[in-house]
Amino acid sequence: MAFVSFSTVFVSVMLFTVSPVAGKTEKTEGDTVEFTPAEFTVSITTMEWTHVDKSSNKIKAIKWDSRDQSLNIPNPRFKKITSIDTKTGKLTIESLTKEHSGQYKFELNGETKGEFSLEVSERLPIPTIERDTGNNPNIVYLKCNYDGSGHKDLLIIWSNSTQELRTMKPEEHDKSFIVEKSNNPDNYYTCSLKSPAGRETSLKAYERDLFKESGLGEGAIAGIIISIIILICGGVGAFFYKTNSVFHDLIHDRFSCLRGNAPAPTETNANVNVPLRNSPSSTQPADGD
Ligand SMILES: *[C@@H]1O[C@H](CO)[C@@H](O)[C@H](O)[C@H]1NC(C)=O
Repeated sequence: MAFVSFSTVFVSVMLFTVSPVAGKTEKTEGDTVEFTPAEFTVSITTMEWTHVDKSSNKIKAIKWDSRDQSLNIPNPRFKKITSIDTKTGKLTIESLTKEHSGQYKFELNGETKGEFSLEVSERLPIPTIERDTGNNPNIVYLKCNYDGSGHKDLLIIWSNSTQELRTMKPEEHDKSFIVEKSNNPDNYYTCSLKSPAGRETSLKAYERDLFKESGLGEGAIAGIIISIIILICGGVGAFFYKTNSVFHDLIHDRFSCLRGNAPAPTETNANVNVPLRNSPSSTQPADGD
């Protein structure tokens, strides 16, 4: 028991001495931050939060005076988005911008009672997945692309539908994430960007799309094969048409459209096209009339 009380006291003392220089709070633009001062028992006359920005400009963020119950937020940087809990001194700032970065100092009755550090970073970009195929049809290489301007120390996290699979440190960001076909077309992959202040995730890349033949689908391939067959048949046909007089005449008679500019006859008048049918070279027996 004695040991427990001792450690409790020890921890409290540690917390008390550490709290004025508490670690940096990291937020992203648009977030809300709260800073809660250590508990106190003295009665409140005034409570004030001051902000020292990155350029060391010190301004009053918010001040509460219990004597006339007045709340004062003089600076436009904090107007409308800043509030204070008049019992605990807790500071709340909504809709953070990068300008809210810096040090926050809490003063109770004119005495400094706590200091907090805030870093607001730009909202993370949403990454996109780029796919590369190699020689192996069962493997694709994925890259996580993002607009990196203004962001340092981002981690890339690759996940499939069920779990996180790999974390890439900043120096590994141009490496590929290798995906092997699992034959579960509904499995999907995402990449996320992670900073201390937030996380943004790409759209899902489904396995059924990742291993799709790039370019030519089955339909296109069938079309190409049929075209090649037609070309070969046409070529063979043309060859015989030129070299074999029997074939030539057969074709010549069948397809009257091949004869110069003569208009192609319709079904009905083809049958009464007597002069051509009787041409000397014709081997085609005349339809019995
Ligand atoms: C996700 O990856 C893990 C580890 O490789 C694997 O065990 C799991 O089956 C995968 N999930 C799916 C849906 O394929």
